[in-house]
Amino acid sequence: MAPILLLFFLSSLLIPSGTESLQPRPYLIQLQQIQHQQQKQQAFTSIFISQNGIDFLKNYLVGKAISSIVPLKLPIIERTAKIPFLGSVRMVLSNITIDNINVPSSFVKLGDTGVAVISSGTTCNLTMNWFYDYSTWVLPVDISDSGHASVQVEGMELGLTVGLQNQEGSLKLSLMDCGCYVRDIFINLEGGTSWLYQGMIDAFEDQIRSTVENTITKKLGEGILKLDSFMQALPKEIPVDDYASINVTFVNDPFLSNYSIAFDINGLFAARKKDPISIYYHQSLQPPISCIDSSKMLGISLDQAVFESASSLYYDANFMQWVVDKIPDQSLLNTAGWRFIIPQLYKKYPNNDMNLNVSLSSPPVIKILEHGIDATVYANLILDVLQEDQVIPVACISLVIGVSGSIKISGNKFGGNVQLNDFSLSLEWSKIGRLRLYLIQPVLWTIIQTVFLPYVNAHLGQGFPLPIVHGFTLQNAESVFSSSKITICGDVEVTA
Ligand SMILES: *[C@@H]1O[C@H](CO)[C@@H](O)[C@H](O)[C@H]1NC(C)=O
Ligand SMILES: *[C@@H]1O[C@H](CO)[C@@H](O)[C@H](O)[C@H]1NC(C)=O
Ligand SMILES: *[C@@H]1O[C@H](CO)[C@@H](O)[C@H](O)[C@H]1NC(C)=O
Ligand SMILES: *[C@@H]1O[C@H](CO)[C@@H](O)[C@H](O)[C@H]1NC(C)=O
Ligand SMILES: *[C@@H]1O[C@H](CO)[C@@H](O)[C@H](O)[C@H]1NC(C)=O
Repeated sequence: MAPILLLFFLSSLLIPSGTESLQPRPYLIQLQQIQHQQQKQQAFTSIFISQNGIDFLKNYLVGKAISSIVPLKLPIIERTAKIPFLGSVRMVLSNITIDNINVPSSFVKLGDTGVAVISSGTTCNLTMNWFYDYSTWVLPVDISDSGHASVQVEGMELGLTVGLQNQEGSLKLSLMDCGCYVRDIFINLEGGTSWLYQGMIDAFEDQIRSTVENTITKKLGEGILKLDSFMQALPKEIPVDDYASINVTFVNDPFLSNYSIAFDINGLFAARKKDPISIYYHQSLQPPISCIDSSKMLGISLDQAVFESASSLYYDANFMQWVVDKIPDQSLLNTAGWRFIIPQLYKKYPNNDMNLNVSLSSPPVIKILEHGIDATVYANLILDVLQEDQVIPVACISLVIGVSGSIKISGNKFGGNVQLNDFSLSLEWSKIGRLRLYLIQPVLWTIIQTVFLPYVNAHLGQGFPLPIVHGFTLQNAESVFSSSKITICGDVEVTA
């Protein structure tokens, strides 16, 4: 479950106009923004939506807006009109319903503080019941009749402007402007006579027009309020597992340029059900990088600090400690397997079973580089001998393991995979005298390759959620590395 995409859509909602064709532009965020950012609060994840993404959201929201509006009931309209020869006739239109709204084109315009959505050439059809009665001096009785009518509304223009602001960590949408203008209406009576037809048009045309305009304007306003409550209700964290969540609190106001919107969120991993750990992370002030393919709808750029926060969080949660009692080469879990490597171990504890107790001595250090991710892992490996129900630690070797990683994106999650680059070892302490590390090194290399890396990769493979709102799924994702940032670019698809 995750928040962010939605924001986008807030970005959109409708309004009027011309047939400007807006070309997709690459969404390099301009330099001014970066300068701004220096006085801003720290944000470790930024999300930017390109023109294509904005159009996608707009179309999605317009479709949603229409289906939530129709069928739309308008208030009863009642009038008394003077009709030649008949005198004063009371006419009533009731059960006025807009059955469908057709928006052939719409576009979004981004300003400094808000988003305008404009639709033009919109048409809609209304159905209604009509009724009239009158009495004349010719026939001193009441005459009445009723029937159906349909009305075509053409050349309707809708527009609204929504302000976007960060309000206490949520995105606040405020309706700045909203309007609906109807150019033409055509009334078709089923039944009725020509006097009635003319009387209807004269008496009701303006009123139908203004009722349609007012009702739709009101509905659009209500739609924005709903979207705003949806945004306010989005959780400020996305759970990752029992220990961690990702902080998706908004920081700073959204940044709108002519062709893209960017949002900053905190983005760091935080412990669940615990007070925030106050570690200061340094945000790199490099320009956000752009996607290679500028037609991608969305880019999410993750600062190195996001990875550092995950690293220290899982380290603090004691996640990075485990006792190994099963390995592919099971002979290494008996002192006999070490007979030629550590003869004195075998001598002291002949044919005893063993455990390997591995724990990290500090959080892994993660660096994002132009070609990928490098991490250095500092670990202690304790050789335990099992004797009856006793666990006897006999030696501790400290390891410095260098790995390089790659990112895999699957759905709305990013996972990773690491490979061993190099490692070095040194003896921390020993109860069995000196060890010949050059003999131990190849054995540990194999254990790291066959036990630890598969374990780590299985965990990393489960993936971490990207900040994308529930119901939208990332498609055709690619990742772009720059020094200290990873940007994940992709298109989105509606999946719910
Ligand atoms: C009102 O209009 C709807 C659809 O336009 C129709 O289904 C319904 O029967 C009408 N009700 C009356 C009382 O005419
Ligand atoms: C309205 O009615 C006209 C004629 O019946 C039809 O061509 C048009 O598609 C309808 N428009 C909508 C939005 O239903
Ligand atoms: C944004 O649009 C405005 C008016 O449409 C224009 O004056 C300005 O130069 C544009 N800025 C960029 C960066 O394209
Ligand atoms: C989440 O981020 C916000 C904004 O940076 C910060 O104020 C808040 O303390 C963070 N929450 C946690 C649990 O870290
Ligand atoms: C593993 O070693 C750590 C110290 O590095 C120790 O605290 C922990 O109790 C050991 N675990 C087991 C199961 O021996």
